[in-house]
Amino acid sequence: MSIQIPRGTQDILPGEVEKWQFIEKKAKDICRRYLYKEIRTPIFEHTELFQRSVGDTTDIVQKEMYTFEDRGGRSLTLRPEGTAAVVRSYAENKMYGQAVQPVKLYYFGPMFRYERPQAGRFRQFVQFGVEAIGSDDPAIDAEVISLAMELYREVGLKKLRLVINSLGDSSSRKAHRDALVAHFQPRIGEFCSDCQQRLETNPLRILDCKRDRDHELMKSAPSILDYLNEESRHYFETVKKHLSDMNIEFVVDSTLVRGLDYYNHTAFEIMSEAEGFGAITTLCGGGRYNGLVQDVGGPDQPGIGFALSIERLLSALDAEGVALPHETTVDCYIIALGDSAMEYTVPLLQELRRAGLSAEKDYMGRKMKAQFKAAERVNAKYVLIIGEEELEKGTAVIKNLQTGEQENVSLDNIVEILNRG
Ligand code: HAM
Repeated sequence: MSIQIPRGTQDILPGEVEKWQFIEKKAKDICRRYLYKEIRTPIFEHTELFQRSVGDTTDIVQKEMYTFEDRGGRSLTLRPEGTAAVVRSYAENKMYGQAVQPVKLYYFGPMFRYERPQAGRFRQFVQFGVEAIGSDDPAIDAEVISLAMELYREVGLKKLRLVINSLGDSSSRKAHRDALVAHFQPRIGEFCSDCQQRLETNPLRILDCKRDRDHELMKSAPSILDYLNEESRHYFETVKKHLSDMNIEFVVDSTLVRGLDYYNHTAFEIMSEAEGFGAITTLCGGGRYNGLVQDVGGPDQPGIGFALSIERLLSALDAEGVALPHETTVDCYIIALGDSAMEYTVPLLQELRRAGLSAEKDYMGRKMKAQFKAAERVNAKYVLIIGEEELEKGTAVIKNLQTGEQENVSLDNIVEILNRG
């Protein structure tokens, strides 16, 4: 039996991979403009890192992690998300002591969650994320949100909905938590066993239960916005003002709680409103996580960030019918006739490629006609035809495949001729 790809993963083949490269380039260019620097952290971390940061009671930690014991008996986990590792690295490398503050970082890379695969949901997916650590200025919240919106705008997405909420500071959250317990407790028997446990451990998590989503108590649950203290309310108002000043439209949804425990104050998601996008519409999620640096052993430094998956971004582009530009032309395809011409093309190719041109030759022992076909197939701009006779004279025939024009040229200045385009 042949071996197949694991469920929930995908091969990204040539033809498709160019789209990924395009998005990666775009995201990196935006990060350059916003002064976010790339960070690369390991694919696996100590399991405890995610338990402490993402939270013991979250679905991610309880049900979705790829956790294993290594040969030394340590519990390791394939990272389900990027924030925990970035914050760990920030604390471990004492980035809070750097001269440039806040520390603004971005990352690209595979994340792993044991979820039920469906459209837009994979077990291995690639996140692009940013984290700004060290500032609790509401303007940085707005900057982080605007960076995500800018990426979507620049790749051509239009049908987007930015949803924001505030989860408040710890005292607001405590007041809200008490209200949630009072709300759900009398009828908790009608909820799933997970929710019954959540009431004890983390009642906020009841609000993002997938099974009990439609229970009437969900709709009438106390809203965090009614429990924000003055400081938290003011913070949220300022973030909203900054967004409005940048003409970034948003809606406030007080039921947006996010599925990770480290959030407080600003929480946001960006959804696709494209028709036919499928059931999972969240493209991007993020928020503020003051206290997280301390939770992983660093000093008390505030932070905010987001992550989005490239898989969902590409689905949204498909749903909106946006095609990404991608260049696949080859500058020159060399057609050699005869053994000595064939030999000659080997160093010639090297020379062309060193000069920055994309160049190719036949490696399949094809006849001339088939070599022309091969040149067309790779979308060559020019073919360079070198036979025994040309070789003796130090010339070649160059043919423009788009116009059909051809001429005799000297092989001495071939790079120059091809560069003229
Ligand atoms: P998250 O909401 O768990 O947040 O994931 C962020 C994004 O990753 C989602 O909006 C979605 O685009 C993508 N994503 C998540 N799971 C999958 C999946 N199974 N298949 C495909 N795409 C998926 C975080 O990960 C936080 N670390 C975000 C953050 C950064 N908050 C602050 N800083």
